[in-house]
Amino acid sequence: MKKNVLTLAAVVLLAGCTSAEEETATETEQTAPAEKPAAEKETGPVIDASYFNELKEVDGLQVIQNPENPLVLVNKEFALPSAYTPPDLVRPNVQYSFGDQDIEKSYMRREAAAALETLFKGAKEDGQYLFAVSGYRSYDRQEEILAAGAAASSEEEALKSIAPPGMSEHQSGLAMDISSESNGFELNQSFETTAEGQWLKDHAHEYGFILRYPKGKEDITQYIYEPWHFRYVGGDAAVMIYENDWTLEDYFEQVKPAE
Ligand code: DAL
Ligand code: ZN
Repeated sequence: MKKNVLTLAAVVLLAGCTSAEEETATETEQTAPAEKPAAEKETGPVIDASYFNELKEVDGLQVIQNPENPLVLVNKEFALPSAYTPPDLVRPNVQYSFGDQDIEKSYMRREAAAALETLFKGAKEDGQYLFAVSGYRSYDRQEEILAAGAAASSEEEALKSIAPPGMSEHQSGLAMDISSESNGFELNQSFETTAEGQWLKDHAHEYGFILRYPKGKEDITQYIYEPWHFRYVGGDAAVMIYENDWTLEDYFEQVKPAE
């Protein structure tokens, strides 16, 4: 069984200093930097068990049974149920590349939408004007996008930047593709070179988002570098992922479920 799948066998022992040990510590030891508990050093950071994918094999696919988990790991290995629609999709109050049209791709889940609004406000305060391009996508819409991409090149080529239906974070309602006027509102690699793209790379984690498909991590994510695709994971995970230069896959290799 994979490491990032929650198993009941995963037992994490949380051990700290006993008060007797603290009392006998010398002055030198007391002023030394605090050490992490031995158990944490061995097992890595501990997060609530509900943040791990619960999986069930369906027709040879690993299908996620708890898709509402805000830390859900969706990739070419773990799929959302084809019928899954997030329960709390709302339209964030941000600028869109397509204006004010009330269309499916402008939506995100409530918590992610609120965080996106704060992200865009923070960017504006720093003089960076961001535009939301593509958020929630249904399973069927993702199927259409992949078919169009495959028709334009080949299925193999398309799959480097377009997820198969069920395997897109856009279906989770937790991802937003972002661009700028300076990049012609396009989603392409040159977004990296714009001031807005740089700002996002440096600050998205402060608002609970991660750059989901980083440069140099293509073997792990199974996608090309996408400087435009940001995924909401919440503040704690976003900061940890940013500071350690991890992908979301790396994060789930490191964290362990609390008992
Ligand atoms: N571009 C990302 C991988 C998606 O299609 O979900
Ligand atoms: Zn995307």
